[in-house]
Amino acid sequence: MKLRIHGAEQIVQVVSNGARFLTGTAMREIAVLHAKPLPAELSPMPKDHLATPQKDGLTVIVNDDGLIHDLGYDSDLKIKYRDCQFAQSLDVTGQTILPGLVDGHTHPVWTGDRVHEFALKLAGATYMEVHAAGGGIHFTVNHCRASSHEELLDSLLPRLQEMVQSGTTTVECKSGYGLDVDTEMKLLQVLQSASERVPLEISATFCGAHAVPKGSTATLASQDVIDVQLPRLISLKKQGQLTTCENIDVFCEKGVFDLDQSRAILVAGQKAGLKINFHGDELNCLNSAEMGAELQAEAISHLEEISPQGIKAMALSGSVAVILPTTAYILRLKSPPVRQMIDQGVVVALGSDFNPNAYCLAMPTVMHLACVNQRLSMDEALVAATINAAHSLGRGNTHGSVEIGKMADLLVINAPRWEHLIYRLGAHSSLISMVLKAGNIAYQKR
Ligand code: NIG
Ligand code: FE
Repeated sequence: MKLRIHGAEQIVQVVSNGARFLTGTAMREIAVLHAKPLPAELSPMPKDHLATPQKDGLTVIVNDDGLIHDLGYDSDLKIKYRDCQFAQSLDVTGQTILPGLVDGHTHPVWTGDRVHEFALKLAGATYMEVHAAGGGIHFTVNHCRASSHEELLDSLLPRLQEMVQSGTTTVECKSGYGLDVDTEMKLLQVLQSASERVPLEISATFCGAHAVPKGSTATLASQDVIDVQLPRLISLKKQGQLTTCENIDVFCEKGVFDLDQSRAILVAGQKAGLKINFHGDELNCLNSAEMGAELQAEAISHLEEISPQGIKAMALSGSVAVILPTTAYILRLKSPPVRQMIDQGVVVALGSDFNPNAYCLAMPTVMHLACVNQRLSMDEALVAATINAAHSLGRGNTHGSVEIGKMADLLVINAPRWEHLIYRLGAHSSLISMVLKAGNIAYQKR
């Protein structure tokens, strides 16, 4: 066997019945195992009456394929596996094991920061004013077109590494700062190179329709995405050069791509075998949620302006609502109606939306914001950042929970209760002691 981790105070399984996602009140009932007091005959005599009695902690066993092979009390598994050799044994006495976090929405591959625009927005400029003036996405596109593969990779790798250190083990990553065929493919190739170098699982998304390039129109840009960019992508996939690209995205928004253009782009991507995972109903309600639900989209992100009919449609289609609390916070948008979504049975997930506009790559911070601003309970936020986010990327049956047979993507925090990960705002780097990807140590605090 690859690994035995033992002594844990809690194992937060999230789900223990094989569910691929959770909705409604089930999001408040996560599965947690607790260490128990040792029976008297096994407990060493306390030296004095103040000594803490020892506990029977919890163990996770990982097989050579990087899958969770077993879990349970230390005492039981010690006996059960007494003849077994473990390549590695980790003592996490008093600490808590959770599933690795899944970040359902990021734009991490770019050069040229936009700290100057943060200042403009603080002074009152809106996101769309900055964008219309040639800043925003356009500013980043100019930088990415001028940057080489190596330059883009050099700026991406430390961001991904920081995501790992913040507890993320699987992440959705978009292209979208190229807006022409060569640069879009370059960004996807950079993601592919990064996935071979960082112990982080990437589900890449083609987002050639992230904005209308300067000097073009939305009609021409949609045609370019459908007739030029997508065919190139498909041929690269056929040649085995883009194995990480799984999803298709479009920024469906007033002044960017309208509903019909977005639909055409998403359908073309779907026909090419990509999963629909797009930006909708963020700044204006275009009924993107209804359109996405009709297409059986895997996921729709943002949804600050979703209509009541959109909520009903998403609950019926099972499309995952990927909520992005950092963006709503930074742009001071109204909060998406997450409580109504959960009450009506929509599958709700979380993403950091890491991008040059919203520079946050730590899912513990995202969960904290979701609890305070979107009024999720801590259980709901954890479900949204694990099993439900995994489901948004088609990985609900392999990722996102600590269950036998699942990928051993694990997060260990130095606290006796998992809720500290959300409660201690901004303190994740002191709390997270270890992150494991497929049973291998991806990060260990010194
Ligand atoms: O999800 N809304 C469109 N895309 C990003 C922002 C990208 C950018 O501003 O660079 C988002 O917030
Ligand atoms: Fe985004």
